[in-house]
Amino acid sequence: MLRATLWFLVRLPLLVLIFVVALVMSSCTMLGMNYASLEVDNKAMPAPQLDVAAITSPDGRERNRLMHTFEEVLYGPWPYGMPVSFGDWTMIDPDYLDGRGTLEEVAITVGAGEGARTFHMVTAFPKAAGPVPVVISQTFADSCSVFPDEPVTAADGTVCDGGMMEGFPGWAATQIFGTYIALAPVDRYFDAGLAYASFYASELVPDRRKTAPEVMADMGGPVDPTSALMAWAYGFSAAADALEADPRIDPKEIAVMGHSRHGKAALIAAAWDRRIAAVVAHQSGFAGASLSRSHTGERLDRMAKTYPHWLAPQAQDWLGKLDEIPVDQHELLALVAPTPVFLGNGRRDVWSDPNSSFRAAEAASAVYVADGEPGLTVTGMKGFDPGAGIAWWLRPGGHSMVSEDIDAFIAFLHAHLNHDRLQQTAVTTSK
Ligand code: GCU
Repeated sequence: MLRATLWFLVRLPLLVLIFVVALVMSSCTMLGMNYASLEVDNKAMPAPQLDVAAITSPDGRERNRLMHTFEEVLYGPWPYGMPVSFGDWTMIDPDYLDGRGTLEEVAITVGAGEGARTFHMVTAFPKAAGPVPVVISQTFADSCSVFPDEPVTAADGTVCDGGMMEGFPGWAATQIFGTYIALAPVDRYFDAGLAYASFYASELVPDRRKTAPEVMADMGGPVDPTSALMAWAYGFSAAADALEADPRIDPKEIAVMGHSRHGKAALIAAAWDRRIAAVVAHQSGFAGASLSRSHTGERLDRMAKTYPHWLAPQAQDWLGKLDEIPVDQHELLALVAPTPVFLGNGRRDVWSDPNSSFRAAEAASAVYVADGEPGLTVTGMKGFDPGAGIAWWLRPGGHSMVSEDIDAFIAFLHAHLNHDRLQQTAVTTSK
């Protein structure tokens, strides 16, 4: 009896801790303990209502008005005319993936003068007879973690010696956020005939609330970005400049891809840079594909308070009156139209609010249709049509990048980039 009591008392603090953690987790949507609602017909229509005829009109006036409003209210200006320059490719691995291709790197400079920013883009080129499509991934993790064991350049300019995803923190991050939260499964993109480019967003503008505004204000453009999302979106555009100039890449087949905050940036890039041929925006959430008027999940106000540097300073003025915000995110999707877009979601990722993202997609669909493209072809949140103009994807699980997401991304890219060159890819769409 005494031994049992002692056993219990010694472990009491641990038991209390487990109980408290379980209690917090059970009500914390961020940790994925709840399910997104699949009910979409019982909610308000996205507002403001889209004027489909005006937005698809060749005069471009409504498009320009909407872009201008997004710049005024949420993202600050697209850095029009900001210089982009790049040098030659450096060979990292001439026998990449057992000789299936090469791994190369290019330094890209954005801006002018002392405040110009240089980031490194690593690209895996498959061996191919002619130009190939490419997907540009913008990442949270440094390139050392995306391409472990390869001598690519680290954010501090030295050659990688280990990455951010090593040891226990890396293991824990992978358990929570999925195998591919950092790691790039390049062999699978090669199987689909795609080149794969990747860069670390923070090397362009650091993901830090204090330093990001200082760095952006000093970039030396005719117009400097005032939000990290806009700056990162411009990073996609700068990356596209460098790839477009390479004869191994088909300039008409440049796709962009990002997860979460980088999914937000990918959507913005596709709306402002019309060269982009397809967008994968995985779990982009608020200021991405989810409606600012939604009260579910993180909500725009909470996001903007935690990460003020992601948005332009004036966005703060709207946080107390989100029902009056002059633009909402179905209009961002309408600006992306008719460029094919993949909207990835997790059923337990309530934080990013899949439900309002689906409603935004439903509203924007008419713009695709008016442009002669299939819009959202599924009728419910559980369908998946990779060939649709808006390819909606909802899997079980939380905020992460897992193997079945990669299958879905590739199915989408395969359906929208040049079919003739791409081999058939097996697609698993298990639910
Ligand atoms: C936070 C943030 C989200 C964002 C996410 C991410 O969770 O609240 O808005 O999308 O980070 O970038 O992973």
